[in-house]
Amino acid sequence: MSTQTRTALVLALSGCFGMAAQAQSLPNLFPFPNGSGLLETFNTAGGPIDLSGPFFQSLGTNGRSCGTCHRPAQGWSISPNEVKVRFLLTQGRDPIFSSNDGTNCDHNIDTSTLQGRQKASSLLLNKGLIRVTVGVPDDAEFTVMSVVNPYGCSDPATLSMYRRPLPATNLRSLSTVMWDGRESSPQTGTQKITFATNPADLLADLEHQALDATNGHAQGATPLTPQQQQAIAEFEMATATAQAFDYRAGALNQDGATGGPVFLGSHGLPAFFVGINDPLGGNPQGTAFTPVIFNLFDAWTNTHSHHDDRDGGSESRRASIARGQALFNSKPIAITGVAGLNDDLNMASIPGTCGTCHDSPNIGNHSVSAPLNIGVGDVNSSLNVGYLPVFTLQNKTTHEIKTTTDPGRALITGLWKDVGRLKGPVLRGLASRAPYFHNGSADTLDDVLDFYNQRFNIGFTAREKADLVAFLNAL
Ligand code: HEC
Ligand code: HEC
Repeated sequence: MSTQTRTALVLALSGCFGMAAQAQSLPNLFPFPNGSGLLETFNTAGGPIDLSGPFFQSLGTNGRSCGTCHRPAQGWSISPNEVKVRFLLTQGRDPIFSSNDGTNCDHNIDTSTLQGRQKASSLLLNKGLIRVTVGVPDDAEFTVMSVVNPYGCSDPATLSMYRRPLPATNLRSLSTVMWDGRESSPQTGTQKITFATNPADLLADLEHQALDATNGHAQGATPLTPQQQQAIAEFEMATATAQAFDYRAGALNQDGATGGPVFLGSHGLPAFFVGINDPLGGNPQGTAFTPVIFNLFDAWTNTHSHHDDRDGGSESRRASIARGQALFNSKPIAITGVAGLNDDLNMASIPGTCGTCHDSPNIGNHSVSAPLNIGVGDVNSSLNVGYLPVFTLQNKTTHEIKTTTDPGRALITGLWKDVGRLKGPVLRGLASRAPYFHNGSADTLDDVLDFYNQRFNIGFTAREKADLVAFLNAL
């Protein structure tokens, strides 16, 4: 496809989505295209998805709504391609580029020209990143020795990090809210999510999160009313989002498969409870951990192609997705150097799989709150994080030094052992919301697997990688 045709296509598509966004509602299960098929959102409350409620209203002062950064077409997150189209269509004046956090820094920037605005929002345009500021707790076990931020914003008392919007859907399975869990933490006046208090704790946290998001992202002048907070939380809790159709495999709920958002919304999410599948034996009902996290594509396991797997057709694709699922559930990974696991369990190497950390059945987040540091924010990981600021932290007692591009949970708890720890997110609707990881450092799912392959010496073959990517794209 020529660049011109491509641009025309992108603009035409974004036009359709623009129209959909201006409409009062989105038909239930409206199919949004992505690179490998169609993504749909199922409204478990029934009927169309209301685009006129408080989630989509501008309730602050800069014209933004929740929907500015949580878009149904992008898996309720954002993608750099769509953000670039928004930039072109509005000459960089869409509210998402607001300089409070839609630019790399909020001062010493020139937004008077188009080029200036493009430069000022480069992380948002290229990686879909929003600037997130968190103050260093007074009683932290560490001091911030230095901040090297290429964009300015290097205040060592309030750190500027750059993070991907988490999807505002499939929230029923959350065991902690935000990458660093800060909306589920007594330190911030919010509630830890536990089996005993769920889902009331989650609802309270989401209501608090909506208040904070309006005050922060939307620069709210008056706080949301309790009714608005409640309406937003209820709206978010009612949606289930997943890939529904794969261009090569066909509908993901055909011939015994249970992919797609309807099954997720009517069986997967309602079945969730905190600790439902915990490798450390935390299931409150005493049920043992199973490494079989996903079984959506079991029925496709023995699919045989009539053409000896060389037709590239639906049957070989189905078989590939099923093999990918089996790899997710069973490929051995020797987990080493992960803060939150190896240190807490005092085990140099833990025999695991993808599901040791992504353990919620058919959803893929961690079923109990478990912030982990797998090294995505490390300065010397195999991922390129050269576009991020670098923080040097020093332990007040031991004087040990850590360097990271995102201190994560440590900025909430003040604990040295929490440096770089973040939650494992839900693994549904992935195909619509590249790039991946909290800092957008993996442009594709291939890059995600390359990272894991190197980080844990897994030894994926090319075919295993292709199968896993086919599977992840079908979630
Ligand atoms: C300017 C972009 C932006 C706007 C506007 C915005 N968000 Fe977000 N949202 C983010 C980012 C970035 C994160 C992740 C930040 C983090 O974890 O540090 C996030 C995280 C979340 C999460 C956490 C999901 C999870 O898995 O933990 C929820 C829920 C959410 N937003 C809801 C909302 C609501 C409700 C509104 C409107 C009141 C809103 N957001 C407005 C960017 C935005
Ligand atoms: C040791 C724990 C652990 C293991 C093992 C693990 N993950 Fe993760 N995964 C995480 C954490 C934590 C994150 C979030 C990291 C971040 O963004 O900094 C994550 C993020 C991801 C993401 C990005 C999601 C998004 O929304 O950006 C994908 C995809 C993923 N993992 C897939 C896998 C696959 C496939 C495997 C097996 C090959 C695997 N993970 C193994 C802990 C783990």
